[in-house]
Amino acid sequence: MNVPRHIAIIMDGNGRWAAGRKRPRMIGHRAGARAVNICIDFCLERGIQALTLFAFSSENWGRPQEEVSALMKLFLNALEREVVELERRGVRVRFIGERAPFSDAIRQRMAEAEARTAGNDRLHLNVAASYGGRQDIAAAARSLAEDVAAGRLRPEDIDEAAVAARVALADLPPPDLFIRTGGELRVSNFLLWQLAYTELWFTDTLWPEFNAATLQRAIDDYAARERRFGLTAEQLAASAQEPEEQRPA
Ligand code: IPE
Ligand code: IPE
Ligand code: MG
Repeated sequence: MNVPRHIAIIMDGNGRWAAGRKRPRMIGHRAGARAVNICIDFCLERGIQALTLFAFSSENWGRPQEEVSALMKLFLNALEREVVELERRGVRVRFIGERAPFSDAIRQRMAEAEARTAGNDRLHLNVAASYGGRQDIAAAARSLAEDVAAGRLRPEDIDEAAVAARVALADLPPPDLFIRTGGELRVSNFLLWQLAYTELWFTDTLWPEFNAATLQRAIDDYAARERRFGLTAEQLAASAQEPEEQRPA
């Protein structure tokens, strides 16, 4: 069966889940932490190589201050609570997004989590925090421009591979499967470059109710899709019959 190597998830719907229970939005965020652990367990069990979770977007800083600071507290607690176990289970943790807007305490915990788990490779867990896809591409462009200005790179050498090497998660295969919970049919500035040929899957399920069965449904749907990458179905069928080394990349 065709299993995704890399799954990327927009964990959306926490606020609405709480509102449905007449509880403050923060209760929804707290409940969402459980679904995160379910996904990590699932990926470890199935041997999925990478899981990228959208935890906080560059735009989410604009939410009411009370919600932002409660989310930061939750984030800090989760870092303190989970890292030892993640380390033990062979998970490599990484954060993508801008570090500067976070408090010193959070930045320190992030660096610590990354350092402690840097030698692991059973599952790459990437947490997008203060992340924006446009920001990611802009940072890649800036870094290319710096190399050109310093004479290390010629403009004519800037191609897709050069950009791809400088956006977030450059060392991992791009996401095979994108999942968004909470019913919105949009990408909300998640991995814009990296999602170019990712299969998209949406569900009305709110994030705190996401579980292994929902994830399994997404994976089953993914397995039934034909990824053509711009080619024709006939070309794909023909290349599947060729020996591996002659197939188009
Ligand atoms: C996603 O849930 C979590 C974050 C953006 C931090 P929301 O907080 O966006 O929940 P809804 O979309 O308002 O229900
Ligand atoms: C996207 O959800 C960001 C995260 C889940 C972290 P939002 O709730 O912020 O996205 P919009 O506002 O519905 O586009
Ligand atoms: Mg939302």
